[in-house]
Amino acid sequence: MVHAIDETYDNGIYDAVGTEINGEQNRWRQCPYVQKLQTALYRYLVDLSSEHFRKHVNPIYIASLAARSHRVKVMAEVQIRRYRKEDHEEVKEVFTIGMSEHIPPSCMHVLKQPLAQMFLGCVFCALLTSSKSILLPVLAVTLLLAAGRQSVSYMFNKYIQSCLEQDLNHIQQTYLDPPNASFFVAESQGRVVGTVACLPSEKDPNFLELKRMSVKKTHRGQGIAKALCRTVADFALQRGFRGVLLHTSVVQTDAQKLYEHMGYMKVSEFSAPEVIARLTNFTLLEYQLILKAHRN
Ligand SMILES: CC(C)(COP(=O)(O)OP(=O)(O)OC[C@H]1O[C@@H](n2cnc3c(N)ncnc32)[C@H](O)[C@@H]1OP(=O)(O)O)[C@@H](O)C(=O)NCCC(=O)NCCS
Repeated sequence: MVHAIDETYDNGIYDAVGTEINGEQNRWRQCPYVQKLQTALYRYLVDLSSEHFRKHVNPIYIASLAARSHRVKVMAEVQIRRYRKEDHEEVKEVFTIGMSEHIPPSCMHVLKQPLAQMFLGCVFCALLTSSKSILLPVLAVTLLLAAGRQSVSYMFNKYIQSCLEQDLNHIQQTYLDPPNASFFVAESQGRVVGTVACLPSEKDPNFLELKRMSVKKTHRGQGIAKALCRTVADFALQRGFRGVLLHTSVVQTDAQKLYEHMGYMKVSEFSAPEVIARLTNFTLLEYQLILKAHRN
């Protein structure tokens, strides 16, 4: 029993201290602060397992503790490390699939725009009155919707292609050779399940820019993206940057929640340069994290 408790505790402390696996998996165990915390938490866990706990603590809370402990255990199987040459194909795949996922939500975003609704409505009514048949307007609207989906796919594929050409086909030169840039992957059972890159921002050299964040769908909700975010923040701190900035889009709602959860603040919102993006209100968002050492 105590052995089981001990194991859960270890994982709980791991989470409490907020130290993620960073290539030096057991570093946290040697920290005196962690050892003190371990003793305090150990006592607390013994209480948790006691009759008193079962009688007085809400079962939902017990379930949430169990889930949390499980989640940390899953995370413990994931290692965050620097990119290696042999990761190349998997990195491209994780990034490409992650980006392609935004095609359906982007189509929904376009359909929610009053301009798009008005346009479809006008075409429908015009064809209905001129042809006096329901078939033609339905067919025309269906064709327009299909064409719209194709255009959104085209835009995303173009973006993915530009990312591959810009840096993902040259990770070594873009992120590993320059001193203040890096590329990290999350590895689970020998496979790449998450990616993130960082390099000095062109807009403000005091900031490191976080890019190419993506986690495989099968490994979401386990704290991998949070660990990748922390790795980038640690890297920025080590290299003396004031903070980290990044860009995301209005349809990447999971990413927005992630960054807000990690303490990033939205600093600006602007339209993507393409005409179609302006027409459809496809905005880009800039987030910034000021590192603790630089907050006053
Ligand atoms: C965004 C993304 C990287 C999150 O990866 P993840 O490993 O599942 O995220 P985590 O498990 O570390 O979750 C971190 C936090 O983000 C938020 N979050 C992530 N996914 C969420 C979701 N589906 N709903 C609500 N909140 C979510 C939560 O606050 C979560 O913390 P919590 O679980 O403690 O509440 C992942 O969904 C992804 O790869 N998406 C596609 C690619 C992409 O959009 N990349 C961003 C480019 S800017």
